[in-house]
Amino acid sequence: MGTIILVLMATMAGVAHSRFGDYTFPSYTRSPLGDSVDIASMKFLKETYNSAADKSVVSSPFGIMSLLAFYAAGAEGANRDEIVRFLGASDYKQLEASYESLSQRYASMDRSYLTVANKVFVSDKYTLRDQFKYAASAYRSDVENLNFENTKLAADTMNQWSASNTNGKISSPVSESDIDPAAAAALLNVIFFQGHWHVPFNASETKEKEFHLDRSNSVKKPMMHLLQSLFYYESAELGAKMIELPYKESQFRMIVVLPDEVDGLSSVVEKVAQRGLLEDVFKMGPAGADVKLDMPKFEIKSKLNLNELLPKVGVSRIFSEAAPGIIKEQGVAVSRGLQEAFIKVDEEGATAGAFTGLIMVFTSSNSRPPPPISFKVDHPFLFAILHNDIVLFTGTYAH
Ligand SMILES: *[C@@H]1O[C@H](CO)[C@@H](O)[C@H](O)[C@H]1NC(C)=O
Repeated sequence: MGTIILVLMATMAGVAHSRFGDYTFPSYTRSPLGDSVDIASMKFLKETYNSAADKSVVSSPFGIMSLLAFYAAGAEGANRDEIVRFLGASDYKQLEASYESLSQRYASMDRSYLTVANKVFVSDKYTLRDQFKYAASAYRSDVENLNFENTKLAADTMNQWSASNTNGKISSPVSESDIDPAAAAALLNVIFFQGHWHVPFNASETKEKEFHLDRSNSVKKPMMHLLQSLFYYESAELGAKMIELPYKESQFRMIVVLPDEVDGLSSVVEKVAQRGLLEDVFKMGPAGADVKLDMPKFEIKSKLNLNELLPKVGVSRIFSEAAPGIIKEQGVAVSRGLQEAFIKVDEEGATAGAFTGLIMVFTSSNSRPPPPISFKVDHPFLFAILHNDIVLFTGTYAH
């Protein structure tokens, strides 16, 4: 049992560096878009955390937001307004400009460590509207025909696309039962990250140590160990301490948020849902002493039902109202929304991925070194991987 929030953020600006001791800390820039992604991600995290049985969850709200922005190109009225509001944009034009440019930025990154891809499958019986074809090209999305009536073949085709973009790590996110034989189209997104710690943990120092589940229960977990100068911040507002673990890959970082109290995670999740994580992330700075870090190796896999989760963050009309601008023949609504995500953290780094799918059907409605600071991640916590200031993944670890 344990809780982890993983946030992966994206570079929006060039890298500047500041020297501290023998370690070069990168510097990050904060943008209004990063703030919007952060706030929406943490709201979504709260809902995934609250609905998770064992309180360990991982997701990429960014993958969901990218698809919602793409879908919004074919939606209108109150349906589109819900998406604009959830994504924290002032209006649709701003949302469109932001997410198109993010899609282009990420589509062109080095696929050896980051893959972000969109895909449209459209029924071979129907035609995409021209405006949506333009959107597909702006969101760097391939368009392909698919026979949804053969639900097995349709699921297999989507799964192959996922597997080929995630190094085989997410190979069957879609099952036959997710597919309505009357489906008209599907929008898919994959985000896949393989990062290496700037300073790897020494595997021979990984030892079985106690991880507290709550005030009275604990289990033994393999704990990794590191003694290093790191970015650090004690947030009285969150009731938590934070560290940053940078990746070798420029501008990517994992943030670990450790509640002050053994059973403090749900309170921390509640607070970040209100204020986001970035406010505190941008207060982090060199700890002023080495950090003696103990942190568990962990692996989480989550399957999220977006039909249940999205209405909890204010996005429900996509499931009932017709979006008229996607398919020529008729307006479509989302019949099934799903995300499968995973993260694996070990001595070398982290691998994280998420597949998101929206399946759509026709619808009729619309100096003397100070003593080391001990940082024992030995109870449920929140973590985040960031690339500069854009949140790509989020999760919680409870065990
Ligand atoms: C890793 O830890 C072991 C045991 O403490 C030590 O002998 C070894 O030198 C360390 N390796 C590195 C690369 O620091």
